[in-house]
Amino acid sequence: MKNILFIVGSLREGSFNKQMATAAEQALAGKATVSYLDWKDVPVFSQDLEVPTPAPVAAVREAIQAADAIWIFSPVYNFSIPGSVKNLLDWASRALDLSDTTGASALQDKVSTVSLVANGGHEQAAEVYRNLMPFIRTKFVDQITTSRVNDSAWVDGAFVPSEEVLADLNKQAEALLEALN
Ligand SMILES: Cc1cc2nc3c(=O)[nH]c(=O)nc-3n(C[C@H](O)[C@H](O)[C@H](O)COP(=O)(O)O)c2cc1C
Repeated sequence: MKNILFIVGSLREGSFNKQMATAAEQALAGKATVSYLDWKDVPVFSQDLEVPTPAPVAAVREAIQAADAIWIFSPVYNFSIPGSVKNLLDWASRALDLSDTTGASALQDKVSTVSLVANGGHEQAAEVYRNLMPFIRTKFVDQITTSRVNDSAWVDGAFVPSEEVLADLNKQAEALLEALN
């Protein structure tokens, strides 16, 4: 079975995107194994920090390299992608061997896809990912599932994806698996 690395782009404990990832796990059940990237300790990027590679960055790169694909579950911040996710992808996009900065990164040719949970700015954030993911040399599966946050979730914390969103997640999972064949 293929091994999909989930990257939840929110570190918030009750994250709706984390709950979306749980729903996507169901879409992959029996078809792929899922693990979650631990990226909370990745520092703010500085070229001065690149050598030696900080341990949390090395761990992130190893996890990405070990995966067949990555699936990002991202909030929308100010109608764009969260700076923290861009920071993570900036670290991951750097060459593994810095003697040739154009060389392969941990993301080289990695199949990738993105889902978005937010209430506004889905299209703007999707467009950022559509440009960014191929630029950092991933093989982007452009079957982006977008979801609004159900009103009650703001009260009780429980994100409930609609039937339509669940169907879209299934289609996205299929497209992702197909890209791995
Ligand atoms: C800096 C910041 C900017 C935000 N901008 C947007 C936005 O553009 N569109 C939106 O729908 N929600 C926006 N939000 C609200 C988030 O969608 C909300 O906090 C959501 O719960 C984040 O996802 P999470 O539940 O996975 O953490 C913003 C939140 C923050 C902290």
